[in-house]
Amino acid sequence: LPNVLYLTNLAISAAIVVATRERLVLITDFRYLTTVARTRGQPFECPDMEMTSVQGSYDATLAAVLESGSMARVGFEAAHLTVARHGWLSGTLARAATPIDLVPTEGVVEAGRARKDAYELELLREGGRRISEVAREVLGEVRRGQSERDLALRIDSLIRQAGFERPAFDTIVASGPNAALPHARPSERKLRESDLVVLDFGGVYDSYCVDLTRTVSIGPASARARDVHAAVLSARDRAIAAAGPGRSRFDVDAAARDALRDAGMAEAFGHGTGHGLGLEVHEDPRIVERRPGVATAAETLEPGMVFTIEPGAYFPGFGGVRIEDDVVVTESGAELLTGVTTDLLEL
Ligand code: GLY
Ligand code: MN
Ligand code: MN
Repeated sequence: LPNVLYLTNLAISAAIVVATRERLVLITDFRYLTTVARTRGQPFECPDMEMTSVQGSYDATLAAVLESGSMARVGFEAAHLTVARHGWLSGTLARAATPIDLVPTEGVVEAGRARKDAYELELLREGGRRISEVAREVLGEVRRGQSERDLALRIDSLIRQAGFERPAFDTIVASGPNAALPHARPSERKLRESDLVVLDFGGVYDSYCVDLTRTVSIGPASARARDVHAAVLSARDRAIAAAGPGRSRFDVDAAARDALRDAGMAEAFGHGTGHGLGLEVHEDPRIVERRPGVATAAETLEPGMVFTIEPGAYFPGFGGVRIEDDVVVTESGAELLTGVTTDLLEL
């Protein structure tokens, strides 16, 4: 569906697109016909798009469109078609008057999405400004005695008030020992003295996702908490410095990992350094470790690529720290889209 949105400008929750060199055919059902009709004549209308409404089932309609198009080979998105549907489609198309071969493809539309155009960058910059505003508000409202869930609810409400369509993912508020869980779910636990609290939230602004994390201390931070925060901040700074046009996304990850290794915390950082942002909150380019032999998307960063830098360090029983910002690759380096203090706040 994010690829359908990218190709057609239609944010609808059920559709198939058939693209040939000459035609773009949208297959959708009754629920969205009026939505599509309303875009006709609008400046954001997808030009020359043909529409077919579903008769019977999506797959039967797709098979009919393909059979009427005198195609011999059709690439399909292997990451988005179930084995069951592929079995039915390939069987049906093999029995067609002119048999059609289905060929798996991966990342075709995603590769185009990785590099944002000026319109997309405008939205992501505005999203970055607004999520930073939300963060400043949240940092001013964190109080001991608040439950993780109540704080998460408040963050979600601020996200919507700031003009986002919705949170980009389930907001994370992870306090004390829960901060050692990179993807903790907010619980009834109440924030207490000397907790580290990881606050990780994002918003969808006119279909584009932004994502931000800060970690705060409730009351004075312990020496250990300061050390962990300083190491993660250094990893964040070194990764941002390593990002730029022509640079390797694996080297950006390595810069963050090296900083944590230098601090003796290599084992505490077990996830990727970042992920692309766009119509999806996790998309290409992935800022991860190089894994020899694993087929991956393009390695080299290009101007217009937007992604997070979010190193962390996690210690079961103690807690953890993550700091996350969003950057765009420019012609000469990388520029932050988010801007909130990275000091370890003692609230
Ligand atoms: N919690 C989602 C992310 O930061 O990627
Ligand atoms: Mn996040
Ligand atoms: Mn993220």
